[in-house]
Amino acid sequence: EEAEKGGFPHFMLKEIHQQPHAIADTFAGRLAAGTLQQELGIGTDEARAIRRIDMIACGTSWHSALIGRRLFEEFAGIPASAEIASEYRYRPRPTEEGTYALAITQSGETADTIAALRATREAGARTGAICNVVGSTVAREADGVLYTRAGPEISVASTKAFTTQVTALLLMALTLGRLRGRLDPARAGQLSEALVKAPEKIAGLLGRMAAPLQALAREKANSNDFLYLGRGYGYPLALEGALKLKEISYIHAEGYPSGELKHGPIALISKGLPVVAIAPNDSLRDKVLSNLEEVKARDGTVIAVGTEGDADLASLADHAVWIPPVEPAIVPLYASLPLQLFAYFMAVERGCDVDQPRNLAKSVTVE
Ligand code: G6P
Repeated sequence: EEAEKGGFPHFMLKEIHQQPHAIADTFAGRLAAGTLQQELGIGTDEARAIRRIDMIACGTSWHSALIGRRLFEEFAGIPASAEIASEYRYRPRPTEEGTYALAITQSGETADTIAALRATREAGARTGAICNVVGSTVAREADGVLYTRAGPEISVASTKAFTTQVTALLLMALTLGRLRGRLDPARAGQLSEALVKAPEKIAGLLGRMAAPLQALAREKANSNDFLYLGRGYGYPLALEGALKLKEISYIHAEGYPSGELKHGPIALISKGLPVVAIAPNDSLRDKVLSNLEEVKARDGTVIAVGTEGDADLASLADHAVWIPPVEPAIVPLYASLPLQLFAYFMAVERGCDVDQPRNLAKSVTVE
């Protein structure tokens, strides 16, 4: 097992560091027109006939679905929903012509996801899957599958599966956007280029961030509550950051869309409460910053993930990690890294079993 960890103390840390390669593998050979359609088995007319996309997933994969929702709506103009499989499978819903059901699952064996996918098939939806494990149940049962090619993920807490799912979703959204005439080739080219540049930049970022995040974890190791806030693409990241912390360090953490702060979580803020804010330089950044002013006014401690050079955020934040300026849609590939690393170092500081957290399973094959 030590050899399999490739010199890292835990699989989770190894898998965090594999992300630049894993992301590159996910988009390799898939940016050219037509390739993705072929893999998914969707003809051009079928792609144009999609009226809505229902994504079905659990856990971290559901957070990818939330990002996918925005990607499909923004770049392909297709109404999309991110459905929690255990809810969706029992929800009475009218079948709608043109529904494309997309299961997102690392293992392809999550019982709720399998059942929800079967239910949508029976209701007449065309189905697809974004999946990591080749030949898994979901991969076999869906009409088409886009493999994430992340390689085996051993750590229970998902890291590279998440960023490769997001990559696959972006590829799908760009493809559908082009086919449906929603995305002009120049804009699609810009986004593809930003994606192609990501692995190298992410590798650099991982190198730079590890030591400061470890130091921060040392400082915060005794905090028992965390709030994570984000908006737009940052909202699913807030959920994912909070989930990572819960899963492996057993610290209570809530992820919220920051616009909801005023509807409840603001009551939780008291002196020193750590608030992790995903506040990259996108169209919603000003709104997140005004939420952070509310946090500071109540003496909360702001830990920010922002864009390099953001002086306003730097002056608001007690601690900050900086990502390079990138396309908002690509930000999740960058901003998820400090959240993963922070959760990892917190778990290590607290002496938790990082790769095998209590009560959790890598793949939940029973209902
Ligand atoms: C379990 C794992 C999570 C994972 C979820 C969905 O809860 O601990 O890390 O996100 O299942 O798994 P899937 O294989 O369907 O992506």
